[in-house]
Amino acid sequence: MRVNYKVFMVTGGGNGLGRELVLNLLRKECKVVAVDKDKSALEETERLAGEYAGALITVEADITNVAAMKDLVDNIEYQYDGIDGVINNAGIIQPFKTINDIDPDSIDRIFRINLMGTLNIIKIFLPSLLKQRQAHIVNVSSMGGFLPVAGQAIYGASKAAVKILSEGLASELSGTSVGVTTVFPGAMYTNIKANSGLGMDAGAGPEGYSADAAFSPVRAAKLIVKAIEYNKSRLYIGKDAKTMNFLYRLNPSLATKLIYNKIRHKM
Ligand SMILES: NC(=O)c1ccc[n+]([C@@H]2O[C@H](COP(=O)([O-])OP(=O)(O)OC[C@H]3O[C@@H](n4cnc5c(N)ncnc54)[C@H](O)[C@@H]3O)[C@@H](O)[C@H]2O)c1
Repeated sequence: MRVNYKVFMVTGGGNGLGRELVLNLLRKECKVVAVDKDKSALEETERLAGEYAGALITVEADITNVAAMKDLVDNIEYQYDGIDGVINNAGIIQPFKTINDIDPDSIDRIFRINLMGTLNIIKIFLPSLLKQRQAHIVNVSSMGGFLPVAGQAIYGASKAAVKILSEGLASELSGTSVGVTTVFPGAMYTNIKANSGLGMDAGAGPEGYSADAAFSPVRAAKLIVKAIEYNKSRLYIGKDAKTMNFLYRLNPSLATKLIYNKIRHKM
């Protein structure tokens, strides 16, 4: 689907990858609705949108709030006469803790946002997308969604669930007007750690890589928009995600051990 002049909803549009997706789509003359629970982050996205700010609507809301998301789709349909694309990007990581040590509240929060938030939005927006001649859904999983990462096993389980949810959705929608892309980023240089309520650690990406090794969210957003245009079913972002995808298929035990050795000092 050509994205130019289309109407998109992006979750987590206040920071990191979501913000770059919003800005990228605005530059392609799209109308964009950016949803985030962080109001000041949305204000910054709006400021960065500059001359395109008139085509941006920011909505402070939690993606797990079913009533708010239902109102949102109604409002978008009313305002724009339909919606062409949904990008399920909002997500959080867990504290670097083993399954034995992590507290039940953190586990619940991770699954509620990463899995249930994504599922809510798919359920609520899909009927509207299916009315369009062409439409697209992007679901952001993670390298941790196909490769076990010690200290991030709960996050990984939530993102593995997003992977299967998204791939199952793609299968169910084959032959319809709605395309689906599942995205597997490796380490990106964003503030996801602080935004997940885990304090600042600007020197390292969430999966334990140095800032130098992490992928720029600006480039990641470009790749995702291109994947929508080519109706690509899966997108691996960064050398780490591509290499580990290959290695995990070849030798899962070796791949898991390599990651463990890299990040075990964090636990
Ligand atoms: N940063 C990485 O290295 C990395 C790697 C692999 C996958 N990912 C995934 O990419 C996506 C984007 O990550 P990012 O690094 O840009 O993170 P980020 O923290 O920079 O941005 C995420 C945004 O989502 C918002 N958000 C979180 N929970 C929300 C909720 N319940 N309702 C509404 N908004 C909510 C946050 O306020 C934040 O603005 C996430 O799904 C993440 O899991 C990130």
